[in-house]
Amino acid sequence: MSGKPRLAVFASGTGSNYDAIFHAIERNEVAAELTLVVSDKPTAKVIDKARNNGTPTFTFEPKVYPSKAAFETEVMEHLHAANIDWIILAGYMRLIGPTLLHAYEGRILNIHPSLLPAFPGLDAIGQAFQAGVKVTGVTIHYVDEGMDTGEIIAQEAVNVQPGINKENLQKQIQTVEHRLYPAVIERVIHNEYSRGGNTTT
Ligand code: GAR
Repeated sequence: MSGKPRLAVFASGTGSNYDAIFHAIERNEVAAELTLVVSDKPTAKVIDKARNNGTPTFTFEPKVYPSKAAFETEVMEHLHAANIDWIILAGYMRLIGPTLLHAYEGRILNIHPSLLPAFPGLDAIGQAFQAGVKVTGVTIHYVDEGMDTGEIIAQEAVNVQPGINKENLQKQIQTVEHRLYPAVIERVIHNEYSRGGNTTT
């Protein structure tokens, strides 16, 4: 890797985490180039945000490809053309397949709006809300072939205030996400986080 690490953000939705990472880079809080936004939803709001910020985009519609391997192969071509070092998932609502996992082994991060392993998968905030937990939070982890199962890098708890509604809980969680994700990305891409998890004795 020469120069600043080059990031591709993958997103399917609003793109508030993409935007937070973009602005953290602009403020020099993260030493990286945000080189590409990849989306499986051509009409997603993240694409408007990327255009406004001048970040190049690649969008695709999974249903027009015969398989996940086929669209991931095309995504790979765009990642290679842009010399991408790290894949940053930010609300990318799709499991990463073997094509990308093998090519970017140990260089794919994800953010999830719960304290994993609690509430993996879709609508984690709604799941926590329904379960009536008093504490939920945010997890940032390496990506493996499972659903929100890779090695955990960082977590931050969020108290669920009595009587709070789901929308306000979501706002609280996203405020944490927008601060935590850029800070963790900065550490991980500059080798300031050692892998391996905990040991038991
Ligand atoms: C974020 O809250 C992120 O944690 C979540 O999607 C939201 C995307 O928001 N990701 C997952 O649930 C992944 N399983 P954004 O598009 O505004 O960044």
